[in-house]
Amino acid sequence: MRLQDKVVIVTGAARGIGQAFALGLAKEGAKVVAADMLEVTDTMDKVKAEGGTIIGINVDVSHAGSTRDMASETMKEFGNIDVIVNNAAIWGGLKFKPMDLISEEEWDAVFAVNVKGVWQCCKAVVPYMKEQGKGSIINISSASIFQGIPLLGHYVASKGAIWAYTRSLSREIGEFGIRVNSISPGYTMTQASKNLSDDQEQLDYIYNLNIDQRIIKRAMYSEDLIGALLFLASDDSAFITGQNINVDGGSYHY
Ligand SMILES: NC(=O)c1ccc[n+]([C@@H]2O[C@H](COP(=O)([O-])OP(=O)(O)OC[C@H]3O[C@@H](n4cnc5c(N)ncnc54)[C@H](O)[C@@H]3O)[C@@H](O)[C@H]2O)c1
Repeated sequence: MRLQDKVVIVTGAARGIGQAFALGLAKEGAKVVAADMLEVTDTMDKVKAEGGTIIGINVDVSHAGSTRDMASETMKEFGNIDVIVNNAAIWGGLKFKPMDLISEEEWDAVFAVNVKGVWQCCKAVVPYMKEQGKGSIINISSASIFQGIPLLGHYVASKGAIWAYTRSLSREIGEFGIRVNSISPGYTMTQASKNLSDDQEQLDYIYNLNIDQRIIKRAMYSEDLIGALLFLASDDSAFITGQNINVDGGSYHY
């Protein structure tokens, strides 16, 4: 198993892509910490049913105290932190909206979770990774930053920030043996994606547009991301840092 006994925190693990990450990591032997502001019971049940090791931690990634508690609880339970997957974000709950209909509160909330949240989580785990002299940070960005999808300006801008932050942080903490990379998923068929509009025609249009733009012409599912995740979490990528992997069926060549 590629991640035998590695301790991996997955934020936003209650559902969708984060839940698939927890399952994929546990199947490779990782001890998984499912961290979310929602209940993670469903994720824990699914991982345990497969014989995996998992604990759940309630966290709000946008609050420093909460992310510090997440890191210290993980240390208490498992004794180290090998990997963090910064997957939690405001995606579920968003609707396609022109720029003048995005409220200041909504813009700030998206940035507080999607950008500040990633920084807070990194800040919470990096001291432990430094002590270990090793660690892998995997930030979940989005292929929407290359496509520049309209009507979700705050979200796309927040994911662009994560792409840039990955590069900056990788240079800052590389000397401590900590690698920082990002994954940019294409449009993935989670429930959150299916709720982006109340207009089924608009959703169908987005669905077909995304498939048309791909080299591999099919819908994308959370499981499509597991290979890249395991690669970046494991020592297979030991000499790779500051990079982004697009997992989007070949939509963009960046
Ligand atoms: N689904 C897609 O098409 C797609 C494409 C590109 C990138 N992504 C990214 O992948 C990740 C997961 O997407 P998803 O489709 O599973 O979305 P989702 O909305 O289903 O999952 C997001 C998770 O983050 C959690 N979360 C939100 N705010 C939080 C906070 N403050 N503290 C802790 N947890 C919080 C939610 O409770 C939820 O469990 C997100 O980062 C998203 O931006 C998704």
